[in-house]
Amino acid sequence: MKDTAYRIDGFKDSIFGVISKLAREHQAFNLGQGFPDFDGPDWLKEFAHQKMQEGHNQYAPFPGTINLRNEVSNYYQKFYQLNYNPETQITITVGATEAIYLVINALINPGDEVVVLEPFYDSYVASIKMAGGVPVPVTMHAPDFNVDSKELAAAISPRTKLLILNNPHNPSGKVWLKDELLAVCEMARKNDLYLLSDEVYEFLLFDGAKHIPTATLNDMYERTITVSSAGKTFGVTGWKTGWICANKKVTNACRLIHQYVTFSVATPTQEALAEGLKRLDTYLPDFVSLYKGKRDFFYQGLKSLGFDFAIPRGTYFMMVPIGSKTKLKDVDFALELIKTYQVATVPPSAFYLKSTEGEKFLRFCFAKKEETLKGALENLKRL
Ligand SMILES: Cc1ncc(COP(=O)(O)O)c(C=O)c1O
Repeated sequence: MKDTAYRIDGFKDSIFGVISKLAREHQAFNLGQGFPDFDGPDWLKEFAHQKMQEGHNQYAPFPGTINLRNEVSNYYQKFYQLNYNPETQITITVGATEAIYLVINALINPGDEVVVLEPFYDSYVASIKMAGGVPVPVTMHAPDFNVDSKELAAAISPRTKLLILNNPHNPSGKVWLKDELLAVCEMARKNDLYLLSDEVYEFLLFDGAKHIPTATLNDMYERTITVSSAGKTFGVTGWKTGWICANKKVTNACRLIHQYVTFSVATPTQEALAEGLKRLDTYLPDFVSLYKGKRDFFYQGLKSLGFDFAIPRGTYFMMVPIGSKTKLKDVDFALELIKTYQVATVPPSAFYLKSTEGEKFLRFCFAKKEETLKGALENLKRL
């Protein structure tokens, strides 16, 4: 038989699939893949049920149901004073992952360069490669995961078209400060780049950290494309519902691809999420305090076991340095933890193209039931 397409050359099973499979085989406490092992709010599930019973079961309009687009528009206005027209600037997608794929494929021609800040969410690089683009990594250096402006400037060439930033940041849990964001934005403005701002953890902030959407910064509204995900905000990652907020031209380009890739997103869940977004004010304090409790509990547990690192201010991840426990690199140590200690984590070197810094860490996801976190800590005591 003839070969499959070269655009997937070099693609492997994603690290999440590999780890989750091993975790099942070894009955490990799974702190690997980034999703809660508990359910989202009951009232939200009730809405989904109700919407199905009410007959919202056929194809949604391809840009998304107008109710959900209106509510997305409302919350950007209310929380960030950002204006997005639901008719022409907001597109509902199958999670942020589809959103990222659409944005990259809408903008990137073969040979175009895209600056990615590593460690990164791994779909960025896959989507860039599928578009024929060239990912150009710039390292966010541990332990603060800061970007060196000189390294960023050196990575930008006349072929660079897009820069991708993730805030709050997976896997480090970093919440970008305004000055840090401004430095990256200035580089995008100076070089006339689009900026894809992945803000899926926009509401998972602790200790008074504030989310600053990139689109709110100096002159960045037009060139910023923001993606987010209801899966993260409502703890229902399996609903796979996200969105893109962008200018009209980019929105139109993304929709042209979306209509042929997925056409539209599941209708009842969109309608339920529209109701969910109306309740953000009352929902968010409980949501944040639930995850803060888990973060504090797990962080204290790891500290008492001798892991030494700064507590993350955002997301539900911790990048934990492993040097005090092992001479192994991240992948081998992650395998040892699963097989010998029944604790699954993600080795972050999978999130780097250039630097080897990731080999010195493991990523733990603390969006887990108390019993999962306790069980994992108990097993790690044997280290
Ligand atoms: C930084 C980042 N972006 C995007 C996504 C994808 O979100 P979704 O599940 O909505 O596709 C994730 C999921 O883990 C993520 O961590």
